[in-house]
Amino acid sequence: MDKQEIIKKTAEHAKKFFEGEGSGHDLFHTQRVWKTAKYLAEKENADLFVVEMAALLHDVADWKLNDGDEKAGLQKVQTWIEQNGVERNELEHILKIIDNMSFSRETEGKKIDTIEGFVVQDADRLDAIGAVGIARTMTYGGKHGRILHDPEIKPKTFDNIEEYKKYKTTTINHFYEKLLLLKDKMNTEAAKKIAGKRHKFMEDFLKEFYEEWECSPR
Ligand code: NI
Repeated sequence: MDKQEIIKKTAEHAKKFFEGEGSGHDLFHTQRVWKTAKYLAEKENADLFVVEMAALLHDVADWKLNDGDEKAGLQKVQTWIEQNGVERNELEHILKIIDNMSFSRETEGKKIDTIEGFVVQDADRLDAIGAVGIARTMTYGGKHGRILHDPEIKPKTFDNIEEYKKYKTTTINHFYEKLLLLKDKMNTEAAKKIAGKRHKFMEDFLKEFYEEWECSPR
């Protein structure tokens, strides 16, 4: 099968996978990551096929969408890629990117080490910040019964993924625990540029949020 065909089929596959996903966010998230990853790949001269496949499938393996089971998610991705006759070295590269790119993997010391991986990771992180990032955080918080804000509950940083999964934080704390840290984690120059703008937007949002919270309009 020709590579464009495989990408097209995989995009359809991702669409089906996310159908019925409660927040309604994740198909569109995947499509935005795909598009951003393509943009970054062109700027960084990364292999487009590997980047597009990893971007399209990266959340199919997400533990949050597989009843907390990361291995089952990755197996699903592997099965799909194998069915489509992708070359062995490309298959391994795509799987390695997906397996190593999450925030949780990073707390375990696993690292991305190819330009294709850097690009997909950056695209995923860019989608977690800015206006879309704020909206996604609110949606996620609502869905999981997080409270919006409580000045008594302080932001916390996590040493390992188990702690991160268990801790009941607030939606506003999530900005300090994750979103505001992402700007400095971008790998590529192209992504750093976009991240700067989105980061500033979140800072402005928080500033306004606290002013309104304190009922102190200026
Ligand atoms: Ni993602």
